[in-house]
Amino acid sequence: MYPQYLQHPIFKAASQVAADMHYPAYVIGGYVRDCFLERQGKDFDIVVVGDGILFAQNLAKALNRSQGINIFKTYGTAQIKYEDAEIEIVGARKESYQIDSRNPTVVPGTLQDDQLRRDFTINALALSLNKDDFGSLLDPFDGIDDLAYKFIRTPLDPDITFSDDPLRMMRAIRFASQLNFTIVDDTFQGIKRNAHRIKIITKERIADELNKIIRSSKPSVGFKLLDDAGLLQIIFPEFCQLKGVDIVEGKGHKDNFYHTLEVLDNICGYTNDLWLRWAAVLHDIAKPATKRFEPGEGWTFHGHEFKGAKMVKKIFTQMKLPLNEKMRYVEKLVLLHLRPIALTKENITDSAIRRLMFDAGEEIDDLMTLVRADITSKNENKKRRYLENYILVEEKIKEVESKDHIRNWQPPITGEVIMATFGLFPGREVGIIKTVIRESILDGIIPNNYEAAYELMIEEGKKLGLQIKTN
Ligand code: CTP
Repeated sequence: MYPQYLQHPIFKAASQVAADMHYPAYVIGGYVRDCFLERQGKDFDIVVVGDGILFAQNLAKALNRSQGINIFKTYGTAQIKYEDAEIEIVGARKESYQIDSRNPTVVPGTLQDDQLRRDFTINALALSLNKDDFGSLLDPFDGIDDLAYKFIRTPLDPDITFSDDPLRMMRAIRFASQLNFTIVDDTFQGIKRNAHRIKIITKERIADELNKIIRSSKPSVGFKLLDDAGLLQIIFPEFCQLKGVDIVEGKGHKDNFYHTLEVLDNICGYTNDLWLRWAAVLHDIAKPATKRFEPGEGWTFHGHEFKGAKMVKKIFTQMKLPLNEKMRYVEKLVLLHLRPIALTKENITDSAIRRLMFDAGEEIDDLMTLVRADITSKNENKKRRYLENYILVEEKIKEVESKDHIRNWQPPITGEVIMATFGLFPGREVGIIKTVIRESILDGIIPNNYEAAYELMIEEGKKLGLQIKTN
């Protein structure tokens, strides 16, 4: 008996409604799994043997949430919002799926039928909300043992479970990555056999699971499983292209697939930010497309940062990831990821730092996090040298920042001032003067203030044959 897991007020209310309606009721799925894993779950799934919608309406009333209920008649489910939790209610059912669709045909069933239709044994655990055995565990497929052994296993023949809902293949891998669990061989073979069925799942749902893998503490686990299962090739072919090593004249290059995964794992030690993690995923994405063997020089990937930045939009579009400032952020980091590396002890000048800070803007710290994560050399000496160099760059950034305030900087003279001074309309001359001022400040030729910039503007205007407007 586990009544200690049913302390939340909604369970007491659900138990009373179940008793009043003479419906057996259970909390099931992720919440129960997370209780046994000592993880904090805040959404609740309740299954009742009876009319789920009617039960949900009565529960909403009992919780004073009659306004906060959403009913999905076609699916026979309902959702109640209670404080920051969501309660999902469903009538116990048997489901059978059509081969070409995710939408099941549903008929009422027993609790066990309902447990059988669930994805994994660890997600089929149920705790009773009934008064006579409140808190007792119903675990027909030994999900508790699988939790203890950290196994992901389908309750049914995996071909049925995955063919019923192919998204579950991604879920299995996501749980393995998130919880550090092993997918049992029989279940994994089922994923391999059914991988092609992922194509019927919407891109949004796939991206959602992929993002959860990227958010896990060691995403390489998930990516390698996706690859072994044959799913990665379907959902993210550009990433698979990173795989492999070519050897010419006895010279190889590093395998960019494993390198990228190492960078991704590394960055997870520094940040939980999904989009910074995505920048790690994509930082070398154009290496296969830019790879050349240059005799005498070896393998080169010239311009992979430019081409890579361009590929971000294409990949985000295909994957239905947001095409907004998050995407632009990833583009920017991919574009700039070689810049700090290009700075070596001799050339960490104020102007090089100012230029980097101007180009990176708000993202300078995240860029430095990315480049640190990008150090994957096995050669300890090299590793130490790179790190020391970055420490130097970071110190210099702090120094230049306190002196010049260049972060999020805009030149002191705007286009409007230039136009007003020379009586110009927007056009080529305004751009020329603006660029000269910006570059002169970044190069440290003039100080970063209005007076010096104004003087330079007048000088440049004269060079262009412009007259100062008097009125
Ligand atoms: N479920 C399923 N197949 C799916 C999705 C969900 O069988 N494709 C079942 C599982 O029993 C799962 C429950 O529905 O535990 C609730 O699903 P959901 O809230 O999506 O996931 P959780 O398991 O709660 O895990 P998480 O919140 O981490 O996504």
